[in-house]
Amino acid sequence: MSKKKVCIVGASGKLGQYMVRHCLSRCYEVVGVCRERSVDKLEVFKDRMTIVPGATNDRSVIQQAVSGCDGVLTVLVPWGVRQYSSGTAQAVLDYAAPDARIVFSCGWHITRDGHDLYSPSFKRITKIAAWLGRLLGAVEIDDQVEACRRIFASDRRWTVVRGSDLEEGESQGLPVWSRHVGDPILASNMTRRVDFALFMVAALEDDGLVHEAPAIVGCRTASALAFLHS
Ligand SMILES: NC(=O)c1ccc[n+]([C@@H]2O[C@H](COP(=O)([O-])OP(=O)(O)OC[C@H]3O[C@@H](n4cnc5c(N)ncnc54)[C@H](OP(=O)(O)O)[C@@H]3O)[C@@H](O)[C@H]2O)c1
Repeated sequence: MSKKKVCIVGASGKLGQYMVRHCLSRCYEVVGVCRERSVDKLEVFKDRMTIVPGATNDRSVIQQAVSGCDGVLTVLVPWGVRQYSSGTAQAVLDYAAPDARIVFSCGWHITRDGHDLYSPSFKRITKIAAWLGRLLGAVEIDDQVEACRRIFASDRRWTVVRGSDLEEGESQGLPVWSRHVGDPILASNMTRRVDFALFMVAALEDDGLVHEAPAIVGCRTASALAFLHS
């Protein structure tokens, strides 16, 4: 079988770099898209991957980068105020090969069906972050919501991975997931970033996650262990 080719959109960030590592360790051929100013962050990988510099919402950049890819992993970020997230998602939806697996990252605040149950403190923090971000002109959470609305409406082979709060540290293994925030297994609300990346990469090979928006939590957290041993 020929080597699987995977594009990582947003490869230079923390999540992106972990995904590059996981993909290389699986011997995938890797193409990474990142802003021109961030190419140096991928220095250690530069001999083992192709780097396509450019804004991730630049349609011609995405068209070039995803060409011939079996999978596309996209870091959906709410940064900026020019429809960066929705522009990125739309370009990936439009240009990835018809049968490609496409996997997007976001946070628990994104809801697919409105049946997520958020704690009052989670709602308060999300509201303040959205308000502050708008005020400072740096964050556009509504646009990340719009990006996910378009993905959910698409008939492409998508998965939207919804991350809990994140921490650094050694891998603990593949996170566990549930369809709705508020489900007991997710109560610990913490995942190692390296394992968020592991879940994204594993989703490429998991057809059971097509058209799912899994909310994830670390597999060694108290809520995950309590659920698994109950
Ligand atoms: N942080 C959290 O606690 C948290 C919690 C749950 C879910 N998530 C989700 O996890 C994913 C990545 O989060 P992360 O915290 O680990 O961040 P990250 O991997 O460091 O990603 C940040 C990304 O944003 C890009 N970026 C930064 N500033 C930008 C700007 N002004 N314009 C355009 N792009 C910009 C970075 O590109 P450069 O390398 O070019 O700067 C990088 O690709 C996102 O989908 C996020 O929604 C995060």
